[in-house]
Amino acid sequence: MPIQTLQVQQLKLTNYKNYTFQHFVFGDKLNFIVGKNGIGKTTLLDAIYYTCFTKSYLTSSDILATNFDSVFFRIETNLTLQSDNQLVEVKYLKQEKKEILLNNAKIERLTDFVGQFPCVIITPDDNQFIIGTSELRRKFLDATISQFSAPYLQQLMLYNKIITQRNAYLKSCFEHRNYDSSLLEIYNQQLVQAGNFVFNARKQFIHRFIPIFHEVYHRIFNGNEQVQIRYESDLNDNDFEILLRNNENQDRQAQRTTKGIHTDDLVFELNQFPIRKTGSQGQQKTFLLSLKLAQYQIIQSEKQIQPLLLLDDIFDKLDTERIAKIFQLIHENSIGQVFISDTDIKRIQDIINTHSITQYNIIQLGESA
Ligand SMILES: Nc1ncnc2c1ncn2[C@@H]1O[C@H](COP(=O)(O)OP(=O)(O)OP(=O)(O)O)[C@@H](O)[C@H]1O
Ligand SMILES: [Mg+2]
Repeated sequence: MPIQTLQVQQLKLTNYKNYTFQHFVFGDKLNFIVGKNGIGKTTLLDAIYYTCFTKSYLTSSDILATNFDSVFFRIETNLTLQSDNQLVEVKYLKQEKKEILLNNAKIERLTDFVGQFPCVIITPDDNQFIIGTSELRRKFLDATISQFSAPYLQQLMLYNKIITQRNAYLKSCFEHRNYDSSLLEIYNQQLVQAGNFVFNARKQFIHRFIPIFHEVYHRIFNGNEQVQIRYESDLNDNDFEILLRNNENQDRQAQRTTKGIHTDDLVFELNQFPIRKTGSQGQQKTFLLSLKLAQYQIIQSEKQIQPLLLLDDIFDKLDTERIAKIFQLIHENSIGQVFISDTDIKRIQDIINTHSITQYNIIQLGESA
Protein backbone atom coordinates (compact mmCIF):
# COMPACT_ATOMS: atom_id res chain seq x y z
CA MET A 1 0.00 0.00 0.00
CA PRO A 2 1.42 3.42 -0.89
CA ILE A 3 2.07 5.88 1.90
CA GLN A 4 -0.99 8.01 2.49
CA THR A 5 -0.86 11.77 2.27
CA LEU A 6 -2.20 13.92 5.04
CA GLN A 7 -3.03 17.58 4.52
CA VAL A 8 -4.59 20.35 6.53
CA GLN A 9 -6.87 22.18 4.12
CA GLN A 10 -8.47 24.77 6.37
CA LEU A 11 -8.36 25.90 9.94
CA LYS A 12 -10.75 28.13 11.86
CA LEU A 13 -9.71 29.57 15.18
CA THR A 14 -12.15 31.17 17.58
CA ASN A 15 -10.82 32.79 20.75
CA TYR A 16 -7.67 30.73 20.61
CA LYS A 17 -5.00 32.92 22.21
CA ASN A 18 -4.78 36.17 20.22
CA TYR A 19 -7.15 34.97 17.46
CA THR A 20 -10.71 36.08 18.17
CA PHE A 21 -11.75 34.69 14.83
CA GLN A 22 -9.66 33.74 11.84
CA HIS A 23 -10.03 31.39 8.90
CA PHE A 24 -6.95 29.97 7.17
CA VAL A 25 -6.70 28.09 3.90
CA PHE A 26 -3.50 26.15 3.27
CA GLY A 27 -1.65 24.78 0.29
CA ASP A 28 -0.99 21.07 -0.20
CA LYS A 29 2.75 21.17 0.14
CA LEU A 30 4.70 24.07 1.62
CA ASN A 31 3.08 26.76 3.72
CA PHE A 32 5.08 29.75 4.87
CA ILE A 33 3.56 31.62 7.79
CA VAL A 34 5.07 35.09 7.92
CA GLY A 35 4.57 37.98 10.32
CA LYS A 36 6.01 40.17 13.05
CA ASN A 37 6.92 39.01 16.55
CA GLY A 38 3.84 38.33 18.65
CA ILE A 39 1.45 38.24 15.69
CA GLY A 40 0.46 34.59 16.18
CA LYS A 41 2.73 32.40 14.04
CA THR A 42 3.61 29.95 16.79
CA THR A 43 -0.01 29.96 17.93
CA LEU A 44 -1.16 28.94 14.46
CA LEU A 45 1.32 26.05 14.28
CA ASP A 46 0.38 25.05 17.80
CA ALA A 47 -3.30 24.98 16.81
CA ILE A 48 -2.43 22.42 14.12
CA TYR A 49 -0.51 20.42 16.72
CA TYR A 50 -3.55 20.69 19.01
CA THR A 51 -5.72 19.17 16.29
CA CYS A 52 -3.47 16.13 16.11
CA PHE A 53 -2.82 15.60 19.83
CA THR A 54 -5.87 17.22 21.44
CA LYS A 55 -3.50 19.35 23.43
CA SER A 56 -1.09 22.20 22.93
CA TYR A 57 2.63 21.59 22.52
CA LEU A 58 3.46 24.77 24.37
CA THR A 59 0.72 25.57 26.86
CA SER A 60 -0.25 22.96 29.40
CA SER A 61 -3.28 24.96 30.47
CA ASP A 62 -6.33 25.39 28.25
CA ILE A 63 -7.35 28.41 30.31
CA LEU A 64 -4.19 30.21 29.22
CA ALA A 65 -4.86 29.26 25.61
CA THR A 66 -8.30 30.87 25.77
CA ASN A 67 -8.43 34.47 24.60
CA PHE A 68 -8.20 36.72 27.65
CA ASP A 69 -11.59 38.27 26.84
CA SER A 70 -13.40 34.98 26.44
CA VAL A 71 -14.40 31.84 28.33
CA PHE A 72 -14.18 29.38 25.47
CA PHE A 73 -12.14 28.54 22.42
CA ARG A 74 -12.67 26.51 19.31
CA ILE A 75 -10.34 24.95 16.77
CA GLU A 76 -11.98 23.56 13.65
CA THR A 77 -9.71 21.80 11.21
CA ASN A 78 -10.50 20.35 7.80
CA LEU A 79 -8.00 17.73 6.77
CA THR A 80 -7.68 15.24 3.98
CA LEU A 81 -6.22 11.79 4.51
CA GLN A 82 -5.55 10.45 1.04
CA SER A 83 -8.67 11.92 -0.51
CA ASP A 84 -11.01 11.50 2.44
CA ASN A 85 -12.28 14.63 4.11
CA GLN A 86 -11.88 14.75 7.86
CA LEU A 87 -13.16 17.35 10.27
CA VAL A 88 -11.66 17.73 13.74
CA GLU A 89 -13.28 20.10 16.22
CA VAL A 90 -11.88 21.06 19.59
CA LYS A 91 -14.36 22.83 21.84
CA TYR A 92 -13.21 24.14 25.15
CA LEU A 93 -15.38 25.94 27.67
CA LYS A 94 -13.93 27.09 30.98
CA GLN A 95 -14.76 24.73 33.85
CA GLU A 96 -16.37 22.21 31.52
CA LYS A 97 -14.90 19.09 30.04
CA LYS A 98 -13.22 19.66 26.70
CA GLU A 99 -14.92 18.13 23.68
CA ILE A 100 -13.17 16.63 20.69
CA LEU A 101 -15.22 15.69 17.65
CA LEU A 102 -14.10 13.76 14.63
CA ASN A 103 -16.49 14.06 11.70
CA ASN A 104 -19.17 15.22 14.12
CA ALA A 105 -18.81 12.19 16.39
CA LYS A 106 -17.64 12.81 19.92
CA ILE A 107 -14.32 11.20 20.86
CA GLU A 108 -14.75 9.45 24.18
CA ARG A 109 -11.25 8.11 24.61
CA LEU A 110 -8.11 9.96 23.72
CA THR A 111 -6.39 6.72 22.84
CA ASP A 112 -8.90 6.18 20.03
CA PHE A 113 -7.92 9.46 18.46
CA VAL A 114 -4.22 10.21 18.93
CA GLY A 115 -2.15 9.00 15.99
CA GLN A 116 -4.84 9.29 13.34
CA PHE A 117 -3.29 12.52 12.13
CA PRO A 118 0.43 12.16 12.81
CA CYS A 119 2.49 15.26 13.29
CA VAL A 120 6.06 16.30 14.11
CA ILE A 121 6.94 19.74 15.45
CA ILE A 122 10.23 21.57 15.82
CA THR A 123 10.27 24.77 17.88
CA PRO A 124 12.95 27.11 19.22
CA ASP A 125 12.35 25.79 22.73
CA ASP A 126 13.28 22.29 21.68
CA ASN A 127 16.93 22.75 22.60
CA GLN A 128 15.64 22.27 26.15
CA PHE A 129 15.05 18.78 25.00
CA ILE A 130 18.82 18.30 24.72
CA ILE A 131 19.92 20.39 27.70
CA GLY A 132 16.85 20.35 29.96
CA THR A 133 15.25 17.85 32.33
CA SER A 134 14.50 14.20 31.60
CA GLU A 135 10.77 14.90 31.53
CA LEU A 136 11.09 16.44 28.07
CA ARG A 137 12.88 13.40 26.73
CA ARG A 138 10.22 11.09 28.13
CA LYS A 139 7.66 13.37 26.49
CA PHE A 140 9.45 12.82 23.17
CA LEU A 141 9.33 9.05 23.62
CA ASP A 142 5.67 9.17 24.60
CA ALA A 143 4.61 11.56 21.84
CA THR A 144 6.32 9.36 19.28
CA ILE A 145 5.25 5.90 20.40
CA SER A 146 1.68 7.02 21.22
CA GLN A 147 1.19 8.06 17.63
CA PHE A 148 1.48 4.51 16.39
CA SER A 149 0.57 2.45 19.44
CA ALA A 150 -2.75 3.05 21.18
CA PRO A 151 -2.01 0.30 23.77
CA TYR A 152 1.14 2.21 24.70
CA LEU A 153 -0.82 5.36 25.44
CA GLN A 154 -3.39 3.34 27.38
CA GLN A 155 -0.77 1.63 29.55
CA LEU A 156 1.12 4.87 30.07
CA MET A 157 -2.01 6.68 31.23
CA LEU A 158 -2.83 3.77 33.51
CA TYR A 159 0.69 3.77 34.92
CA ASN A 160 0.53 7.50 35.65
CA LYS A 161 -2.83 7.08 37.35
CA ILE A 162 -1.53 4.31 39.61
CA ILE A 163 1.59 6.30 40.45
CA THR A 164 -0.60 9.22 41.54
CA GLN A 165 -2.69 6.91 43.73
CA ARG A 166 0.31 5.11 45.17
CA ASN A 167 2.03 8.40 45.98
CA ALA A 168 -1.11 9.74 47.63
CA TYR A 169 -1.25 6.57 49.71
CA LEU A 170 2.41 6.87 50.74
CA LYS A 171 1.81 10.46 51.72
CA SER A 172 -1.26 9.65 53.79
CA CYS A 173 0.62 6.80 55.52
CA PHE A 174 3.31 9.23 56.47
CA GLU A 175 0.87 11.82 57.75
CA HIS A 176 -1.33 9.42 59.70
CA ARG A 177 1.49 7.15 60.78
CA ASN A 178 -0.34 4.02 59.78
CA TYR A 179 0.78 1.68 57.09
CA ASP A 180 -0.65 -1.36 55.39
CA SER A 181 1.91 -3.07 53.23
CA SER A 182 -0.71 -5.36 51.66
CA LEU A 183 -2.48 -2.32 50.18
CA LEU A 184 0.80 -1.14 48.75
CA GLU A 185 1.22 -4.61 47.29
CA ILE A 186 -2.01 -4.15 45.30
CA TYR A 187 -0.69 -0.93 43.80
CA ASN A 188 2.59 -2.68 43.05
CA GLN A 189 0.90 -5.45 41.10
CA GLN A 190 -0.89 -2.96 38.85
CA LEU A 191 2.19 -0.82 38.49
CA VAL A 192 4.40 -3.72 37.49
CA GLN A 193 2.08 -4.74 34.68
CA ALA A 194 1.73 -1.29 33.14
CA GLY A 195 5.36 -0.38 33.86
CA ASN A 196 6.77 -3.45 32.16
CA PHE A 197 4.61 -2.83 29.13
CA VAL A 198 5.82 0.77 28.77
CA PHE A 199 9.43 -0.26 29.43
CA ASN A 200 9.40 -2.94 26.75
CA ALA A 201 7.74 -0.67 24.23
CA ARG A 202 10.30 2.08 24.88
CA LYS A 203 13.18 -0.37 24.65
CA GLN A 204 11.95 -1.78 21.37
CA PHE A 205 11.34 1.66 20.00
CA ILE A 206 14.84 2.91 20.85
CA HIS A 207 16.30 -0.18 19.22
CA ARG A 208 14.54 0.69 15.96
CA PHE A 209 15.07 4.41 16.32
CA ILE A 210 18.86 4.44 16.75
CA PRO A 211 19.84 3.24 13.24
CA ILE A 212 17.37 5.66 11.63
CA PHE A 213 18.75 8.48 13.74
CA HIS A 214 22.33 7.57 12.72
CA GLU A 215 21.36 7.54 9.09
CA VAL A 216 19.79 11.01 9.32
CA TYR A 217 22.65 12.43 11.36
CA HIS A 218 25.46 11.13 9.18
CA ARG A 219 23.96 10.94 5.72
CA ILE A 220 21.52 13.80 5.59
CA PHE A 221 23.30 16.29 7.81
CA ASN A 222 26.86 15.11 7.18
CA GLY A 223 27.59 14.92 10.89
CA ASN A 224 31.00 13.35 11.31
CA GLU A 225 31.04 12.98 15.07
CA GLN A 226 30.40 9.74 16.82
CA VAL A 227 26.89 9.99 18.24
CA GLN A 228 25.09 7.71 20.60
CA ILE A 229 21.68 7.42 22.24
CA ARG A 230 21.24 5.35 25.36
CA TYR A 231 18.03 4.46 27.09
CA GLU A 232 18.37 4.69 30.86
CA SER A 233 15.79 3.01 33.01
CA ASP A 234 15.59 1.55 36.51
CA LEU A 235 14.16 -1.49 34.77
CA ASN A 236 17.18 -2.09 32.54
CA ASP A 237 18.90 -4.35 35.06
CA ASN A 238 16.16 -4.99 37.58
CA ASP A 239 12.93 -6.84 37.88
CA PHE A 240 10.35 -4.13 38.56
CA GLU A 241 8.45 -6.10 41.17
CA ILE A 242 11.58 -6.80 43.21
CA LEU A 243 12.72 -3.23 42.77
CA LEU A 244 9.47 -1.89 44.23
CA ARG A 245 9.68 -4.28 47.16
CA ASN A 246 13.32 -3.46 47.89
CA ASN A 247 12.56 0.25 47.83
CA GLU A 248 9.50 0.16 50.05
CA ASN A 249 11.21 1.86 52.98
CA GLN A 250 12.78 4.46 50.80
CA ASP A 251 9.41 5.18 49.15
CA ARG A 252 7.72 5.52 52.54
CA GLN A 253 10.26 8.03 53.63
CA ALA A 254 10.21 9.97 50.40
CA GLN A 255 6.37 9.72 50.33
CA ARG A 256 6.51 8.90 46.65
CA THR A 257 7.47 6.14 44.27
CA THR A 258 11.18 6.53 43.68
CA LYS A 259 11.76 3.79 41.09
CA GLY A 260 10.04 3.08 37.82
CA ILE A 261 9.67 4.16 34.22
CA HIS A 262 8.59 7.66 35.30
CA THR A 263 12.29 8.36 35.93
CA ASP A 264 13.49 7.01 32.56
CA ASP A 265 15.82 9.13 30.49
CA LEU A 266 17.58 9.24 27.17
CA VAL A 267 21.28 10.01 27.21
CA PHE A 268 22.62 11.76 24.13
CA GLU A 269 26.33 11.42 23.59
CA LEU A 270 28.79 13.03 21.21
CA ASN A 271 32.19 11.41 20.99
CA GLN A 272 31.31 9.62 24.22
CA PHE A 273 30.53 12.74 26.22
CA PRO A 274 27.05 14.00 27.09
CA ILE A 275 26.13 16.38 24.28
CA ARG A 276 24.44 18.79 26.67
CA LYS A 277 27.74 19.41 28.39
CA THR A 278 30.24 19.32 25.54
CA GLY A 279 28.33 19.83 22.29
CA SER A 280 28.56 23.14 20.46
CA GLN A 281 25.27 24.86 19.62
CA GLY A 282 25.59 23.74 16.00
CA GLN A 283 26.22 20.15 17.03
CA GLN A 284 23.23 20.28 19.35
CA LYS A 285 21.07 21.68 16.54
CA THR A 286 22.12 18.93 14.16
CA PHE A 287 21.47 16.36 16.84
CA LEU A 288 18.04 17.77 17.58
CA LEU A 289 17.04 18.03 13.96
CA SER A 290 18.19 14.47 13.34
CA LEU A 291 16.12 13.26 16.28
CA LYS A 292 13.05 14.99 14.91
CA LEU A 293 13.49 13.84 11.34
CA ALA A 294 14.14 10.31 12.54
CA GLN A 295 10.93 10.66 14.57
CA TYR A 296 9.23 11.73 11.34
CA GLN A 297 10.53 8.70 9.45
CA ILE A 298 9.64 6.18 12.08
CA ILE A 299 6.09 7.50 12.50
CA GLN A 300 5.68 7.52 8.74
CA SER A 301 6.83 3.93 8.38
CA GLU A 302 4.66 2.73 11.28
CA LYS A 303 1.52 4.56 10.21
CA GLN A 304 2.04 4.51 6.46
CA ILE A 305 0.94 8.15 6.56
CA GLN A 306 3.12 11.17 5.88
CA PRO A 307 3.01 13.20 9.09
CA LEU A 308 2.52 16.96 9.07
CA LEU A 309 5.76 18.80 9.73
CA LEU A 310 5.60 22.03 11.73
CA LEU A 311 8.78 24.10 11.73
CA ASP A 312 8.56 27.09 14.01
CA ASP A 313 11.22 29.74 13.49
CA ILE A 314 13.94 27.29 12.58
CA PHE A 315 15.92 29.51 10.24
CA ASP A 316 17.58 31.45 13.00
CA LYS A 317 18.88 28.19 14.30
CA LEU A 318 20.11 26.57 11.11
CA ASP A 319 22.75 27.24 8.52
CA THR A 320 21.97 27.35 4.80
CA GLU A 321 23.37 23.88 4.20
CA ARG A 322 20.98 22.22 6.61
CA ILE A 323 18.09 24.31 5.36
CA ALA A 324 18.93 23.14 1.83
CA LYS A 325 18.83 19.54 3.02
CA ILE A 326 15.36 19.99 4.43
CA PHE A 327 14.04 21.45 1.18
CA GLN A 328 15.68 18.64 -0.70
CA LEU A 329 13.77 16.13 1.43
CA ILE A 330 10.54 18.01 0.82
CA HIS A 331 11.30 18.12 -2.88
CA GLU A 332 11.99 14.38 -3.00
CA ASN A 333 8.63 13.81 -1.33
CA SER A 334 10.25 12.23 1.71
CA ILE A 335 8.28 14.83 3.64
CA GLY A 336 4.62 15.72 3.03
CA GLN A 337 2.85 18.93 3.96
CA VAL A 338 5.02 21.42 5.82
CA PHE A 339 4.33 24.61 7.76
CA ILE A 340 7.23 26.99 8.23
CA SER A 341 7.01 30.16 10.27
CA ASP A 342 9.33 33.12 9.96
CA THR A 343 9.40 36.84 10.66
CA ASP A 344 11.20 37.79 7.47
CA ILE A 345 9.33 37.72 4.15
CA LYS A 346 12.53 38.54 2.25
CA ARG A 347 14.26 35.48 3.63
CA ILE A 348 11.30 33.33 2.56
CA GLN A 349 11.40 34.81 -0.93
CA ASP A 350 15.14 34.13 -1.11
CA ILE A 351 14.57 30.54 -0.06
CA ILE A 352 11.83 30.10 -2.65
CA ASN A 353 14.16 31.44 -5.37
CA THR A 354 17.28 29.58 -4.25
CA HIS A 355 15.51 26.24 -4.11
CA SER A 356 13.30 26.87 -7.15
CA ILE A 357 10.23 26.05 -5.06
CA THR A 358 7.05 26.07 -7.09
CA GLN A 359 4.43 24.47 -4.87
CA TYR A 360 4.01 26.87 -1.98
CA ASN A 361 1.65 29.16 -0.20
CA ILE A 362 2.51 32.28 1.78
CA ILE A 363 0.27 33.36 4.62
CA GLN A 364 1.10 36.82 5.81
CA LEU A 365 -0.34 37.49 9.23
CA GLY A 366 -1.45 40.96 10.26
CA GLU A 367 -1.52 42.21 6.68
CA SER A 368 -4.96 43.75 6.84
CA ALA A 369 -4.37 45.20 10.33
N1 LIG B 1 -4.77 33.76 26.12
C1 LIG B 1 -4.37 34.75 25.31
N2 LIG B 1 -5.27 35.70 24.91
C2 LIG B 1 -4.89 36.69 24.06
N3 LIG B 1 -3.65 36.83 23.58
C3 LIG B 1 -2.73 35.90 23.94
C4 LIG B 1 -3.03 34.84 24.82
N4 LIG B 1 -1.93 34.11 25.02
C5 LIG B 1 -0.96 34.68 24.28
N5 LIG B 1 -1.43 35.77 23.64
C6 LIG B 1 -0.73 36.65 22.69
O1 LIG B 1 -0.78 36.02 21.44
C7 LIG B 1 0.24 36.52 20.61
C8 LIG B 1 0.73 35.42 19.72
O2 LIG B 1 1.94 34.84 20.15
P1 LIG B 1 2.82 33.89 19.22
O3 LIG B 1 3.78 33.26 20.12
O4 LIG B 1 1.95 33.02 18.41
O5 LIG B 1 3.52 34.94 18.25
P2 LIG B 1 4.64 34.70 17.15
O6 LIG B 1 4.11 35.30 15.89
O7 LIG B 1 5.05 33.29 17.12
O8 LIG B 1 5.83 35.62 17.67
P3 LIG B 1 7.42 35.41 17.62
O9 LIG B 1 7.85 35.87 16.24
O10 LIG B 1 7.91 36.34 18.66
O11 LIG B 1 7.73 34.00 17.88
C9 LIG B 1 1.24 37.20 21.52
O12 LIG B 1 1.15 38.58 21.28
C10 LIG B 1 0.77 36.83 22.91
O13 LIG B 1 1.01 37.85 23.81
MG1 LIG C 1 6.80 32.32 17.63
